Amino acid sequence: MAQSQTLQQPIAARDALQIVGTVKRLSGINVDPNNSGFLRLRVNRRLKELGLTDTDAYIARLNGIHGASEAQFLVESLATHTTDFFRERAHFDFLKTTGLPNLMQLGAGKEWPLVIWSAACSIGSELWTAGIVLHQFCLSTPDRPRWSLLGTDVSRRVLARAANAVFTLEELSGLSEDLRRAYILRSKPESQISAGGTLFRVTPDLRGKARFKWANLVDLEVGFSERADVAFMRNVLIYFKQKEKDAAIQNVLRRIRPGGYLITGHAEAISNLPEDLTQVAPSVYRKACNAK
Ligand SMILES: C[S@@+](CC[C@H](N)C(=O)[O-])C[C@H]1O[C@@H](n2cnc3c(N)ncnc32)[C@H](O)[C@@H]1O
Repeated sequence: MAQSQTLQQPIAARDALQIVGTVKRLSGINVDPNNSGFLRLRVNRRLKELGLTDTDAYIARLNGIHGASEAQFLVESLATHTTDFFRERAHFDFLKTTGLPNLMQLGAGKEWPLVIWSAACSIGSELWTAGIVLHQFCLSTPDRPRWSLLGTDVSRRVLARAANAVFTLEELSGLSEDLRRAYILRSKPESQISAGGTLFRVTPDLRGKARFKWANLVDLEVGFSERADVAFMRNVLIYFKQKEKDAAIQNVLRRIRPGGYLITGHAEAISNLPEDLTQVAPSVYRKACNAK
C-alpha cells in the first residue's frame, strides 16, 4: 500500500481481514471486513491517535512488540458502548415487581448476598441503574437484604469509567430528578474525566456496593468464580455470530444461581433455549430452581 495513502481511503482487504480477525479472536465481536464506513472510521481514528498515516504501518505495529496492547486498543475502538440509565425500562420494572421478590423468597439477600451482574456494563449506566432499583426495593422491605453489584466488560477503558462512576448531565438524562438527587452528587474536580461541563458522580454508598472485573463473555476464564442472581447481558449478543452467542449464553448461565434471571436486550431473543432456562417476560429468562 502506498505510503501516501490518506486516511479516508479504503483499507486493503487483507489488512481489513487481519484487523477484524484480531477483534473477533479477542472479544467475539463480529465486524464486517468489507471496508464498511464503520471499520474505516474507527481504524482511521486509531491511526490518527498513533500519528500513523497508512494502514501498512498500523499492521506492522499489530504484528510487532506492541501487538498485544494494540490488539486491546482495537477491541476498544471497534466495540460499541452505547448505553443509558434505565435503558429498556421494562426490565427494571420486572425486577422490582417480580424478579426481586421471587429471589428474596428463595433466600437471596438473607442466606447469601444477592448479586446483580452487569455482564457487558460499558460505562456503567446499566449497573448503577440496577443498584438504584435494588436499593429502592430494599428500602421498601422490612428485612435488611445484603446485596452487591458486579460489572464486567471486555473493554478496560469503559470498565475504568464504570468504576469511576462519573457522568455528564446528558449521560444522566434517563434518571428522574428525584433519583438524581438521591443517588448522584456533583463530582469533585480531581475525579473529573474530561474538561468542560459539570460532572456528576454516583454517591459513595452506592459505589461501595460495586466491584468491576475485566471479562470476555465468549471465553470466560475457568477462574472466573463469580455467581449472580441476576445477570444483565443486554445489547452485546447482537455483535456476535451464533457460535459466540451460544458460548456467551452458556458462560453466563453457568454463573447464575438456581432460580436466578438472565436478561438480554429486547432485540436479542434467545432462539434455542437451554433446557434449564424458561422465558418469563420479554427478553427475561429464569434458570430452573433445581438447576445446578
Ligand atoms: C452496546 S454496549 C451495552 C451496554 C449495556 N449492557 C446496555 O445494554 O446498555 C456493549 C458492551 O459490550 C461490551 N462487549 C463486547 N464484547 C464483549 C465480550 N466478549 N465480553 C464482554 N463484554 C463485551 C463492549 O465493550 C460494550 O461496552
